[in-house]
Amino acid sequence: MNIALIGLGGMGTVHYHNYRHVAGARVAAVVGKTEADIARAGEWGVPIYPTLTALCAQVEIDMVDICTPTFLHKELALEGFALGKHVLTEKPIALTLADATAMYAAADAAGKQLYVAQLLQFSRAVETLRETVKKETYGKPLDACFERLAACPGWTQGSWLFEKDKSGLLPFDLHIHDLDVIVSLFGKPRTVGYTACGGAQKAYREQYRFQYGYEGLTVCAEAAWFNAAIPFTARWRVYFERGMLICDAQGLTGYAADGTVTPFDVEDAVKIPTGINLPPTGWFLRELTHFVECAKAGEASQVVPRAQVLAVVAVLEGIEA
Ligand SMILES: NC(=O)c1ccc[n+]([C@@H]2O[C@H](COP(=O)([O-])OP(=O)(O)OC[C@H]3O[C@@H](n4cnc5c(N)ncnc54)[C@H](O)[C@@H]3O)[C@@H](O)[C@H]2O)c1
Repeated sequence: MNIALIGLGGMGTVHYHNYRHVAGARVAAVVGKTEADIARAGEWGVPIYPTLTALCAQVEIDMVDICTPTFLHKELALEGFALGKHVLTEKPIALTLADATAMYAAADAAGKQLYVAQLLQFSRAVETLRETVKKETYGKPLDACFERLAACPGWTQGSWLFEKDKSGLLPFDLHIHDLDVIVSLFGKPRTVGYTACGGAQKAYREQYRFQYGYEGLTVCAEAAWFNAAIPFTARWRVYFERGMLICDAQGLTGYAADGTVTPFDVEDAVKIPTGINLPPTGWFLRELTHFVECAKAGEASQVVPRAQVLAVVAVLEGIEA
């Protein structure tokens, strides 16, 4: 699989380093215009073109991988489909349900696949949670709680991330990780409620607490870019009829009602350095390997399926950012 990578910032760098370990895939060329992008392509020794159309006129490409700021995902995906390529886009797919639907329609019209990089689905902890819910190991889920809390990302302040029409702010940029997991496990929620807060001087809401209603189950989630230098915290717990699964800094542990404690091994066997300020991980490797395999087979992803992606965007669209 020859990949055309668009966007050579944080995520583009991570994807580039991981593709080097994906069997049968290589970044054949990249798209970029800035001095920084041109310098990075030079370091990597890959040809760089100013547009995807110019790139595809010169290089044989099977799949386009979009790692640009979010507001550009739709137009670049449509360009990729018009050129007859499969498209993988970083999350979020788009900022409106209409745009996301149009992207899938363009994929269908081109007879190609659209993939969305919802990374958490490829962590071993979420895989274990999925299995536990499916097999009803501890019975049916009754309550779940997800947290994703960060200090305000200062290094990108003033950039596209803090513009609502470019990133969708906290709901689309950060909470989407947990909401995608929630929808994949339990389906689209029947009811959605939330509270939000933010300092008067801030142009965006800094913290949200969401509540999602299901038949016989309540799910809550918190997402924040706090004006406080807290360490990044991502954790969740799911309470079942006969036990609980807790995922936190200690790892993933199951606590059964009969007293059995199960520490799950969720370490990745292979961890790839990301090339940015994220520790080495196997998540991106497993994610990109999955999408490359799907694209080789010309098949949709069963891990991040269309209905899930659209349900998530539909929920996020109803939340004021
Ligand atoms: N999966 C995750 O955990 C995760 C983490 C961070 C970001 N993301 C997503 O990845 C995407 C990119 O985020 P980032 O943090 O890497 O952004 P970034 O600002 O670090 O990099 C953006 C890159 O896109 C390039 N670019 C901008 N406009 C372009 C255009 N018209 N054509 C070609 N290139 C263009 C920039 O020059 C830069 O190289 C976003 O959609 C974001 O939501 C995902």
